[in-house]
Amino acid sequence: MDSLKVIGGAKLKGKIKISGAKNSALPLMACSLLLSKGELKLDSMPNLADTRFMSILLSSLGMKSRIENNIAYISGEPKTYIAEYDIVRKMRASILVLGPLLAKYRIAKVSLPGGCSIGTRPVDLHINAFEQMGASILLKDGYIEAKAPKKGLYGADISFPKISVGATENVIMAASLANGRTRILNAAKEPEIIDLANCLIRMGASIKGAGSGEIIIEGVKELEGCNHKVIPDRIEAGSFAIAAAITKSSLELCNCEPKHLKSLSKKLINAGVNWESDKDIIKITSDGILKPVNVQTSEYPDFPTDLQAQFMTLMTVANGNSEIIENIFENRFMHVPELLRMGANISVNGGVAKVSGVQNLKGAQIMATDLRASISLIIAALRAEGESYISRIYHLDRGYEQIEQKFQDCGANIVRITN
Ligand code: UD1
Repeated sequence: MDSLKVIGGAKLKGKIKISGAKNSALPLMACSLLLSKGELKLDSMPNLADTRFMSILLSSLGMKSRIENNIAYISGEPKTYIAEYDIVRKMRASILVLGPLLAKYRIAKVSLPGGCSIGTRPVDLHINAFEQMGASILLKDGYIEAKAPKKGLYGADISFPKISVGATENVIMAASLANGRTRILNAAKEPEIIDLANCLIRMGASIKGAGSGEIIIEGVKELEGCNHKVIPDRIEAGSFAIAAAITKSSLELCNCEPKHLKSLSKKLINAGVNWESDKDIIKITSDGILKPVNVQTSEYPDFPTDLQAQFMTLMTVANGNSEIIENIFENRFMHVPELLRMGANISVNGGVAKVSGVQNLKGAQIMATDLRASISLIIAALRAEGESYISRIYHLDRGYEQIEQKFQDCGANIVRITN
């Protein structure tokens, strides 16, 4: 298993190009299952373990799918409607094939994703929504077996009791080919939802209101191929911004969408970090003197859960006490024990972490536990005094493209050790 060796203390300087968003790329790839003709060509496709998994999943269903030079080309039609456990267990976003298969082919059998290290992560909202659209669903032997009525799914008013990014995406895709109108209430508002809607509209779908809490979709008869460019990864950009802030550095992030990062920029500015943005560029400058700032995670446009671990790491070296509250996932403080090994002072009670800033962190042997925890440990190690060894970095490869390369190019002491 690969690990990373990081020698802390180096200042970062230079430009980093932000990749396409993983969380947009995955649903966009799943859209290909809705095609009646043509090819879906997705530009700015990040080369990640998760996008390669999605490509393998689509190929396993019978689609023609390949990713070359950051472009995905997907066409054809499935020959089977079964998403096997072996693939789904590796990537929870596999659940996103359920809606498209059900809408287009009226049948789908998708393994239940099961829990993961950041919580139980149920899929009840997805299932209930498809039932409201007329599907009959059976949970059997660890699989979701779903069938649509003979004439296909029908439009429905779906009011989510809780906001879910994945369930909103699954329903938008399914509703695009359903009979009649679907209204999604309490929809997720993330930029990735808008990106998905924009791509589907290019494919011929009729969708209004994406990015607001109410989305209206008029089902159409068929969808065809198109070219679409994946939006920049706001979580990758935010992670580099925090890395610059903690290492007393100056970094220029290009190919980003500053307006997707308003909640983070406010918090960083409150912490004393200099944040400037112009078009698709963000410039971060920090003298490393950080004020404590409280953060609560919530749905977009509020502070993203996917930046919570990184922000907590920043607060471990702030001048004072801060409080980090995680409201989205019940078990997303797995990075805390690792940060404690590096000398941080954090106490956790349920979803609340109290952080007392220390002068500096110390290098240690640490273990990555999930995707965002992994990057937070790199951020900690870049600041820490001495050497750190981070194991289990396969989590990192799921969601960050060429991560050590990007850090090396701006002066970080970071190398991958391959065993
Ligand atoms: C997506 C992102 C993930 C991000 C998360 C929250 C992708 C591939 N992943 O995950 O990086 O951390 O949004 O912004 O885009 N829930 C239910 N029942 C369901 C579905 C969700 O109770 O059927 C709960 C979850 O357990 C969680 C909350 O709703 O507590 C939000 O989850 P959701 O928005 O669905 O997350 P994902 O779409 O899985």
